[in-house]
Amino acid sequence: MSIREIVYTPDPVLRRKAHKVTVFDKETKTLIDDMVETLRQAPGVGLAAPQIGISSRLIVIEYGEDEEENENAPKKLYVVANPEFVKKSDEMVEGIEGCLSVPNLVGTVDRHEEVWVKGLNRQGQPVKIKAKGWLARIFQHEMDHLEGILFTDRANKIWQPAEGEAEAADV
Ligand code: NI
Repeated sequence: MSIREIVYTPDPVLRRKAHKVTVFDKETKTLIDDMVETLRQAPGVGLAAPQIGISSRLIVIEYGEDEEENENAPKKLYVVANPEFVKKSDEMVEGIEGCLSVPNLVGTVDRHEEVWVKGLNRQGQPVKIKAKGWLARIFQHEMDHLEGILFTDRANKIWQPAEGEAEAADV
């Protein structure tokens, strides 16, 4: 496993529509492991393959479902290839986001409160995930990366966080 280099805006790979993952071989598994390691080292809560310069529809998320209320909540790792929304709640919520590929900026973004996502796991088998609150936000942020969309495109307001202002999770 190795830590990959995170690419920053305005790298064009961040603006490309990523390609579907069609092969689940050793190379794919190494890429996934590297993404998880890179995410943990950053540290962040979510990472999409374009953020390490690879235009593949692959996201990794590590987040505790109850982390909003309890920062010691057990974290869960999600690895999803070719993620697609099955359903999105009508309810929208505003929250503060940052992005590992957009350093020193945060912004308020409206996201669906709840989303249902389907895709493939690291073995290439189908998975379905129901995500709510922050986890739903992270999924939407990461899946945007696969379309070449950054949170700054969707933000109602963008600003440079004050030193030590760590409200936004980097994704
Ligand atoms: Ni991001």
